[in-house]
Amino acid sequence: MQTILEPAAMQTWARERRARGETIAFVPTMGFLHEGHLSLMRMARDRADHLIVSIFVNPLQFAPGEDLATYPRDEAGDLAKCASVGADVVFFPTPASMYPDGFQTRVKPGPLAGPLCGRSRPTHFDGVVTVVLKLFNLVKPQVAVFGRKDFQQLQVIRRMVRDLDLDVEVLGGPIVREPDGVALSSRNAYLTGAERAQAVCLSQSLGLAEQRVASGEATAAQIIELVRAHVTAHPSAEVDYVELVDSEELTPVVGTLTGPCLLALAVRFGATRLIDNRVLVP
Ligand code: PAF
Repeated sequence: MQTILEPAAMQTWARERRARGETIAFVPTMGFLHEGHLSLMRMARDRADHLIVSIFVNPLQFAPGEDLATYPRDEAGDLAKCASVGADVVFFPTPASMYPDGFQTRVKPGPLAGPLCGRSRPTHFDGVVTVVLKLFNLVKPQVAVFGRKDFQQLQVIRRMVRDLDLDVEVLGGPIVREPDGVALSSRNAYLTGAERAQAVCLSQSLGLAEQRVASGEATAAQIIELVRAHVTAHPSAEVDYVELVDSEELTPVVGTLTGPCLLALAVRFGATRLIDNRVLVP
């Protein structure tokens, strides 16, 4: 496995493979890798000749006061994990090489970036799509895999690919969970013991909603109330949002559920904000 630090060297490597007719699959990450990332890498590896993983904590997608400075990092552990799943290259650029002096261009996503996480993180998805477009141009993948835990991110990236005619197939990988149901996230490392114990309320509430939908007709308001009541019964949990939305356009679902929709939630435990979601099928 090769480690490439410089964007220009990454681009040259990719250009040479593409010129030989070889295919590239790509998993972009911010590091502190866990089994969720590794499952995306396994999924990507089987779809191309080469697997490239990027590790870059992208300053552009953090607002002032967010956790950029404290974002967990484990360079040696990450490299070992990438090697264990058969990555060919780990692309590990520095912020200065990705955003040199004079950098000023941003990709601006449309209304898909507005609801859910976009409400409390209004500049987040600008930073995400800007770095993902740069990474696509450097890594030149035919296929890229993103996790469905960040469902809105996946949809915003899919829309950028569609709107800007990018020649990349975007795939979503399933959410990977701890045995008690907590979705794997690098940010789980911030949780205290008590917060970690209570964080299970997210997946529990998604399960309750699923049962409620399976047991008969339910309205969006009833489902949202059920989830809120379960989450707020946990003293450390502070709801950022609980929403039921159309899973393509992310617009609110109102009234009785008639087709598949996305139940998405963001909940703070102290300084840590966790997200989770499930597609509900009435
Ligand atoms: O999901 C992430 O880890 C990041 O948002 C991504 C897609 C790597 C862009 O920085």
